[in-house]
Amino acid sequence: MRTSFLRSKLAIATLTLAAIAITPSAHAQSADAGAKVYAANCAACHQASGAGLPGAFPPLAGHFPSLLKQPDGRNYIAKAVLFGVEGSITVNGATFAGSMPPWKALSDGELAAVLNYVGTAFDNKAQLPADFKPYTADDLKAARAQALTPAAVYAQRPGNKAGAAPAASAAAGAPVTFTAAQSARGKETFQHRCTDCHGSTLDNGEFGGAPLNGGYFKNHWGNGSVAALFAYTKAKMPPDRPGGLSDQTYADLVAYLLDENGYAKGDKELPTDAQAQAGMSLKR
Ligand code: HEC
Ligand code: HEC
Repeated sequence: MRTSFLRSKLAIATLTLAAIAITPSAHAQSADAGAKVYAANCAACHQASGAGLPGAFPPLAGHFPSLLKQPDGRNYIAKAVLFGVEGSITVNGATFAGSMPPWKALSDGELAAVLNYVGTAFDNKAQLPADFKPYTADDLKAARAQALTPAAVYAQRPGNKAGAAPAASAAAGAPVTFTAAQSARGKETFQHRCTDCHGSTLDNGEFGGAPLNGGYFKNHWGNGSVAALFAYTKAKMPPDRPGGLSDQTYADLVAYLLDENGYAKGDKELPTDAQAQAGMSLKR
């Protein structure tokens, strides 16, 4: 019992390390390698099933083949994973006003492998365009040479007009709000439910919890909206009882995380309403 508990904690720690320490590999294009890259870097948001999370992260299941079929979709996808994407997008009628972090720290081979994995996983394979050729490391190398910003990638998204302004996205509007009392409530819950894995200073957890501050936090959440952070935390945390807390408690926890990451407190609480959260950008 004790050993298997430790072993699972080790497995979590290894997974998290794999997400941070990136070893470029010349032979990373196999589907198996792609599955590993996906689990370590993409599944947290797009989910292991590829279904995404409503209100926060777009699906890749079904959506990836339809992107590929758009004019220049293939190149757009390579740039999206390399440089990130920032701006409001609509997928199957649902709007996502978040931001996709850049993955240029991964090697060309790893990125080709993960795209080929996404192309064949989640029943995507049957929907691929007939002339689909697997991505190669050279495809990624060519895209990498362009060195784009996430906003520039957004402007090149199929269907977007050149110069489409990401600032016009829903995430641009309202300022982030939360109160000192709310953050204190969040801290209280955090100490009971989250410190084992995430630590008392948010980056000194023992059991493999990801850092919840600094550059890691900024890279994952700093260009998105409050809605993405809330939806993720509610959908995945704590791992043994995801969604097990009330919406109010999740909002308090998010308020605490924002407080610890230096966002300004005010006299209005962080709302639980997804629409209102989607309007609050974490960009500064
Ligand atoms: C921290 C959350 C997060 C992680 C991790 C993440 N993504 Fe994304 N991804 C997003 C969001 C949010 C969007 C939508 C961006 C927007 O609205 O501008 C997106 C968009 C995309 C798109 C473009 C979809 C479109 O319709 O334009 C692709 C392709 C993609 N992600 C693939 C990946 C792959 C592959 C990985 C892993 C290497 C990954 N993502 C990791 C959050 C994430
Ligand atoms: C059993 C250990 C464990 C507990 C308890 C736990 N977490 Fe986590 N948490 C993790 C792991 C592991 C990850 C990384 C998951 C991944 O990358 O797929 C994570 C990731 C996160 C992230 C995203 C970090 C990022 O930028 O990618 C947030 C936010 C978070 N946890 C919040 C919480 C909150 C709030 C609680 C308490 C309600 C909590 N966690 C409890 C293990 C834990």
